[in-house]
Amino acid sequence: MRAWPDDDERRGGAPDAPPDDATMLELRDRGIELDPSPPGHHRHGDEAHASDHAHPHVHSDPGEPPVVGIVGAGAVGTALGVALARAGWPVGAVASRDAARRERFRSLVPGARGFAEAAALLDEVELIILAVPDDVIPGLAGQLRMYSGQAMVHTSGALGAEALQPAMAAGTQVGAFHPLVAFADTELAVAALHGATIAIEGDDQLTDLLARMADALGAHAVRLAPGTKAAYHAAAVLAAGGFIALLDAIAELGRVAGLDEAGSLSIYGRLAEQTLENARALGIARALTGPMTRGDVGTLDRHLATLRTHAPTVLPLYVAAAEREIALAEARGALAPAAAAAMRTSLARPH
Ligand SMILES: NC(=O)c1ccc[n+]([C@@H]2O[C@H](COP(=O)([O-])OP(=O)(O)OC[C@H]3O[C@@H](n4cnc5c(N)ncnc54)[C@H](OP(=O)(O)O)[C@@H]3O)[C@@H](O)[C@H]2O)c1
Repeated sequence: MRAWPDDDERRGGAPDAPPDDATMLELRDRGIELDPSPPGHHRHGDEAHASDHAHPHVHSDPGEPPVVGIVGAGAVGTALGVALARAGWPVGAVASRDAARRERFRSLVPGARGFAEAAALLDEVELIILAVPDDVIPGLAGQLRMYSGQAMVHTSGALGAEALQPAMAAGTQVGAFHPLVAFADTELAVAALHGATIAIEGDDQLTDLLARMADALGAHAVRLAPGTKAAYHAAAVLAAGGFIALLDAIAELGRVAGLDEAGSLSIYGRLAEQTLENARALGIARALTGPMTRGDVGTLDRHLATLRTHAPTVLPLYVAAAEREIALAEARGALAPAAAAAMRTSLARPH
């Protein structure tokens, strides 16, 4: 088990020999902000403190929320910091390489210390949230090494908790905390976290804590089993981006029929809402309607012909959906095998 570093170790030696100007410039060029502390002082992130006090690694009282540190003062990191602080969870520190973003975070989350480097934040907190781009997560985790008793989560929808393995040491835990929210504006995102779903991963002790954190934000936690994250995220992408692609195809066919986008959204949007209500009330299979449930090959052929002529780019989407509808109708017992076979033959004809 790794011992906690003492104060001197944390601040990189005694502070009584401030770096010269050339060193400071070089450090700044590298994005490292290191104001020399006056003799007898040391720094906690952006703050200078008199060196007459000890500050062992933070430990919250049993039953109290852990001290949270957020790496990345971007869209997600800032909104989570604000939401957690308002929910009464102590947000002890933020790490962002950008001084302006760091200061904005600190102005929104009073009491949070600011660090230019993620590694420096580790000494100040118990639960570390990596809110950095997906591609950065594994490499950044490789540069960090947690202390016993600490936990680290990332907020990515695409990666599993295992992406944080490199940061693990004895007695530490890793997990994921992925809010199904579109983080555009900080205040809108904070509001949207209320009632949102948050996918959590980790071992039992950590997921209990993450579920409490989701609860504090007014969100609903969904526990994901290891290895299922990509499927969960792909479903979310289909529900959001995939649905928009479907709406776009619907609008293209609407244009063939003389409808503008608003007209299509009004007419087919109502139908889509009704279908969603039916699926909620009856289940997905029983909510299926249309020619594919009736084995209406003539209608299917007319659709394929008009798509070929007027909207060829919509054709693959229509065919893929029809194949799935036929399988659903068959499984429901609504479609005779011969009718299903005839429809599949139509769909298989070269387009
Ligand atoms: N946006 C959404 O709607 C949304 C929703 C759910 C989950 N997520 C997930 O949340 C995570 C963060 O997304 P975001 O939208 O908040 O991204 P973002 O707004 O781009 O913020 C990313 C933050 O990470 C920091 N960062 C970037 N590269 C870094 C590096 N090499 N080392 C250290 N820090 C680095 C940034 O830089 P500075 O250090 O310069 O500040 C910034 O503060 C991603 O995993 C994303 O998939 C996003």
